[in-house]
Amino acid sequence: MDKKLVFFGGTFDPPHAGHVEAADACIRELSPDKIIVMPDFIPPHKKTFFAASPERRLEMCKIAFSGKKGVSVSDEEIKSGEKSYSYITIKKLAERYKDYKIYFLMGTDMLVSFGEWKNPEEILRFSEPLLVVRGGEGQTAEETIAEFKKKFSSPVTALGFCGKDISSTEYKFRLMLGLDTDGFLTEETDAYIKREEIYKADEKFVYVRENLKQTRVEHTLGVMLLAIKYAKRLGVDTEKAMTAALLHDCAKYSRPEDFGTAFDGVPEPVAHQYLGAYVAENILGVKDEEILNAIRYHTSGRPCMTLLEKIIYTADVLERGRNFDGVEYLRKTTDEDFETGFLTVLSWCFAHVSKSKKQVYGLTEKAVEYYKIKEKI
Ligand SMILES: [Fe+2]
Ligand SMILES: [Fe+2]
Repeated sequence: MDKKLVFFGGTFDPPHAGHVEAADACIRELSPDKIIVMPDFIPPHKKTFFAASPERRLEMCKIAFSGKKGVSVSDEEIKSGEKSYSYITIKKLAERYKDYKIYFLMGTDMLVSFGEWKNPEEILRFSEPLLVVRGGEGQTAEETIAEFKKKFSSPVTALGFCGKDISSTEYKFRLMLGLDTDGFLTEETDAYIKREEIYKADEKFVYVRENLKQTRVEHTLGVMLLAIKYAKRLGVDTEKAMTAALLHDCAKYSRPEDFGTAFDGVPEPVAHQYLGAYVAENILGVKDEEILNAIRYHTSGRPCMTLLEKIIYTADVLERGRNFDGVEYLRKTTDEDFETGFLTVLSWCFAHVSKSKKQVYGLTEKAVEYYKIKEKI
């Protein structure tokens, strides 16, 4: 069995530069006879943001990996029309390619949850993990690999290559928000997506793009990515988190009179939360009260907030573009425990406004009372 076959599965929605670099590293370091790139079938109930059709994902893979030695793109999982399980695909490949040693390409970040996959032992019976080192959260790649080896007593091959941390989701959001997408994809894939308008911005993205300055759009993107991360971790609907984050500052530069409305007694920095909810509901057709409330109270907070409201409130303060003194401490606290993090962020914001001698908005006072954080400051 000296012939080598690498199985490279994934959603590839779209295939990004990190995927292509992983294939290049494989070719360079392992010289496999075959690399089979196989986009998976996405079950209808699986939540993905702005999923491209299976045909488009296949086509994008063909473009992204074109001209690479030994690489072919397979429609096998997509054609099957049902949820793709790696153990089934790997077993089929092992039966078909009897004289090949099969490698299963994946990122070290995926090893962490490997034990929760369907029939992990079956995967390891027919193939060997071929690892691209990727920065996950918490432990280092070496620790992850060591833990995996101990748990599954399986050999692994690690490529001497550190994969770029690229997110297909971020690429799609950037594209739809009109931000630059340089370096995310191969030029050919990027050009194909733009030419064919595969990921078309809906009216909410268009509204944000057309009504906010670029720096505010970048901030919005940061809030979206962080809110989705928190939502995933806390079991909150990621679609709702995405929409609320996208629209939270949509009225940042608008005035109530522009829409023939008024918010009396609301300090100027707070007014845009109410106006944002107004725009979301009346102009962009958002009817979900949970989403509207997350927008409506994202600056002030309020007593008895829902988890979604807390997520948007916290992500707004901690998104990656923020660099005020103490932000790292707040991020760490929130990563360790979300509720504690939220309370710490709320108290930090309250102290910040109080110190600046600006008027503290009544609702914020009430939130601080409600969560009994005054004495903690
Ligand atoms: Fe805001
Ligand atoms: Fe914001």
